[in-house]
Amino acid sequence: MQRVTTLKQLAEAVASARERELEVALVPTMGALHDGHLSLIREARRHTPFVVVSIFVNPLQFGAGEDFDKYPRDIEADAEKLRSMAVDVLFTPTVNDLYRGNMDVTESAGKIGDLYEGAARPAHFDGMLTVVARLFEAVRADYAVFGAKDAQQLFLIRQMAKAKFPNLKVIEAPTIREASGLAMSSRNQYLDAKNLEVASKLLAALRVGQGAGAISPALVIDAVRNEMLKVPEAKLDYIALVEADTFEPVVTGFSGRAVLLIAAVVGQTRLIDNIDIKF
Ligand code: PAF
Repeated sequence: MQRVTTLKQLAEAVASARERELEVALVPTMGALHDGHLSLIREARRHTPFVVVSIFVNPLQFGAGEDFDKYPRDIEADAEKLRSMAVDVLFTPTVNDLYRGNMDVTESAGKIGDLYEGAARPAHFDGMLTVVARLFEAVRADYAVFGAKDAQQLFLIRQMAKAKFPNLKVIEAPTIREASGLAMSSRNQYLDAKNLEVASKLLAALRVGQGAGAISPALVIDAVRNEMLKVPEAKLDYIALVEADTFEPVVTGFSGRAVLLIAAVVGQTRLIDNIDIKF
């Protein structure tokens, strides 16, 4: 595995793949790698043998009072995991390497970016899209892989890629879960044993909503809300049922793939999860 930090080194490493006529896949991450991230790498490998992983904790996507400073960072442990996965290139830029002194937020997540997670985390998605755009420009990959757990993020990245990076295929990889059902996340490190148990109830509540029968959107949401009432330790933020293709709320009569979203704060940690429902 080649570890690079500057855009120039990255371009050279990617050029070496191009010389060998290999397609390139990018897996962007913020590090603190867990099995969910490793599954993204496996998914990338299904498309091409040449995989670039980036690790960069992007200051632009953290709001004031969020966990930028305490976000878990263990670059050597991460590098070891990536070596064991035989990743080709690990890109670990500094803020200066990546942004070259220009920290302007250049991307807008638009109307959908202000809803759900965006309502709770203003400007988060604009900052997230800005770093993803910089990474897409730098790597010029054929594939970029993202996890289904961050469903709204994935939707917005797809939207941006369609408009600005039409040759890039954005690949969705399924959510990887703990045995308890809790979706894997680097932020799970913040949870103690009690809160881990509470957090696992999010998926249980989503499943109750899924089982409520895909007839009325209001019934689905009520079923999840009632289930969450049994878990007062989790501070529910929102439950939303959205069309997978537009992220607009599902209305009665909709037919197609919908995504049932949930966000709650457990202890001090904001958690999100989702499952698909077919209407
Ligand atoms: O999902 C993440 O880890 C981050 O939001 C991403 C896509 C790497 C951008 O910083």
